[in-house]
Amino acid sequence: MMGAGPVPIPSRVAAANSIVINHLGETMSRVIEQVQSMCRYVFQTQSRHIMGIAGPGSAAMEMAICNLVWPGRRILSICNGYFSLRFAEMASRVGGIVTILDVDEANAADPEVVRRYLSTSQFDVITIVQGETSNTTWNSSLQEIAKIGREHGALVIVDAVCTLSTLPLQMDGWGIDCVITGGQKGLSCIPGVSLIAFSDRAWIDIECKPIKTHQWCLDALLADQFWNKKSYHYTAPVSGILALHEALRLVINETLQARFERHMLCSTSLQHSLEVMGLKLFVEKPARLNSVVGVCIPDKLDGGNIRLLMSQRHRVEIAGSFGLNIIRIGQMGEQCRPHNLFRTLHALGTSIQELGGAIDLPSGMAELERGLNSFPC
Ligand SMILES: Cc1ncc(COP(=O)(O)O)c(C=O)c1O
Repeated sequence: MMGAGPVPIPSRVAAANSIVINHLGETMSRVIEQVQSMCRYVFQTQSRHIMGIAGPGSAAMEMAICNLVWPGRRILSICNGYFSLRFAEMASRVGGIVTILDVDEANAADPEVVRRYLSTSQFDVITIVQGETSNTTWNSSLQEIAKIGREHGALVIVDAVCTLSTLPLQMDGWGIDCVITGGQKGLSCIPGVSLIAFSDRAWIDIECKPIKTHQWCLDALLADQFWNKKSYHYTAPVSGILALHEALRLVINETLQARFERHMLCSTSLQHSLEVMGLKLFVEKPARLNSVVGVCIPDKLDGGNIRLLMSQRHRVEIAGSFGLNIIRIGQMGEQCRPHNLFRTLHALGTSIQELGGAIDLPSGMAELERGLNSFPC
């Protein structure tokens, strides 16, 4: 599972996910408190408004949007890919007046352009995706953009589905008002459970909202009943929350700093070895996302055939893309282990060779070995 998610999960996470407990019992209350407290570290926040969601990353995006956007609210959606456009679509569906700031393909959003938009029009909310998994672009100036948003009085919503715990993000330090993530990517947990954190500023807007949130399951005020007041909202996905609890605990054991370094080392080693092998990466630095690496498909080859051969012959799954002529290799959580990288690079190289592509496989493998030499034992 070396695609853009879901990613392999540690056996301890799988074991936690096999347990069912009373969703309103004392044990669950303790689990919830611990999940929130561990999230404070992982999201780098002191927020008291952290909740889990029974649903995919898109449900977490929708929860952010449907609680903070309503008819008449003005939204600036910074769009450099498929998932940032999803935010814009969700915001317009709940009646927001959406302006799309279209960023050129494979480029990060420019803070000065964001400033220009905010100086000429008033916006209540900004949406941005930290790592656009769809085309492997990294919004490397997120911190600056969040600061500009705050200076102009806009709430900043960040999708950190593939980046949380793989790349630095400081919710409080950078002044972000809402961060969402899914289980199945950076956290190396299961798909189908997600997390959201609101700032106090965002929470005031939610409490003062002029209309009720239309979506019942995603209503933050109702979810708060379960997550902070020990009462019933809907039957919580207890096994999924236990899996999240274990995944967060593993992040804490490793520490964020060590985890960022592991991801950086693995991803950059992979990137260099792909280039040494003769392949071209889709996004140039500094907008290149480390969490998912986009590789251009060599001339005259078909990405689908490469992936099929890798899957059938080598049992290695990587991802295609949303209409782009690239293949994507995930570098999130358990994917960032040397044995997974060696196997993936070898499977990719031999598949390309078999399909007639010219590739320098030995040099690529040697470069990977050199790059991963300093991987901590
Ligand atoms: C950056 C990003 N945001 C949101 C999502 C949506 O998550 P899900 O597919 O779990 O709904 C994805 C999924 O790939 C993603 O990569």
